[in-house]
Amino acid sequence: MSGTTNPYQNDRGNKDASITRKGGEGDMVPSPGTGQAMNTANAFLIGDTMTGGYGNGPDILHDCTIAVNPGEIAVIVGPNGAGKSTAMKAVFGMLNVRQGSVRLDGEDITNLTPQARVAKGMGFVPQTSNIFASLTVEENLEMGAFIRKGDIQDTMDQVYTLFPILKEKRHQAAGELSGGQRQQVAVGRALMTKPKVLMLDEPTAGVSPIVMDELFDRIIEVSRTGIPILMVEQNARQALEIADKGYVLVQGRNAHTGTGKDLLADAQVRRSFLGG
Ligand SMILES: Nc1ncnc2c1ncn2[C@@H]1O[C@H](COP(=O)(O)OP(=O)(O)OP(=O)(O)O)[C@@H](O)[C@H]1O
Ligand SMILES: [Mg+2]
Repeated sequence: MSGTTNPYQNDRGNKDASITRKGGEGDMVPSPGTGQAMNTANAFLIGDTMTGGYGNGPDILHDCTIAVNPGEIAVIVGPNGAGKSTAMKAVFGMLNVRQGSVRLDGEDITNLTPQARVAKGMGFVPQTSNIFASLTVEENLEMGAFIRKGDIQDTMDQVYTLFPILKEKRHQAAGELSGGQRQQVAVGRALMTKPKVLMLDEPTAGVSPIVMDELFDRIIEVSRTGIPILMVEQNARQALEIADKGYVLVQGRNAHTGTGKDLLADAQVRRSFLGG
């Protein structure tokens, strides 16, 4: 991102004037109950005040904003059915965004197909059906690289370094692996596209606390390679502990936004979403 120009000045569809202040950095007004203003002006990837739903159905998202800054981990939490996956799908181009926009590294990509977004550097691991169960681990990784030209071996080696168990099991059908290992396959498959940003929808769903900790460690490792991570988590407390930014969504709206630390310390967030 260059110089003093604000790449988000042309914020088509953005009705919240507080987000982009004329001539300055945009600050997102802090959500109720949080201390800190949320600056989204420097976001690497942002779904900005998105409103929309599935097909011609009712709106599920209402002015919903989720974003991740360069080098950071942003976490989206909230009750079941809050619209977390829907917000992720909207950012990935799988939803009709009726108002608002999606921007990647300053470029408006609201109208691009998911495939075009992958080509632009977005990696997405959906909540369900994120691996080919009947293919081997290695075939899954190869499928991940389908959009790439040239040699993929280096990237595969990197994935195997990150997740050594996948190398060991590379000739096994992915469907035979444990839950945590299948999630590693899914993340590995997304990494095979060499993404500039990674979106993960509940990467630790259904795994034991120990495996969850391991997956979080690997996710932090990925983020340290310079890939910003936008992820949904149902393990809210643990996820907010590793989050630079946190978004609590309720009924398709931003209910609380802050640093992970702020949200963990916020009495209302603790009471309503973290079990006290
Ligand atoms: N494909 C779909 N078509 C129509 N409505 C859908 C579809 N997927 C989800 N919804 C609806 O959108 C709303 C939000 O669902 P969503 O899956 O985004 O919630 P979530 O926060 O990800 O929940 P969970 O924690 O259970 O994963 C729900 O009312 C759900 O019924
Ligand atoms: Mg979901």
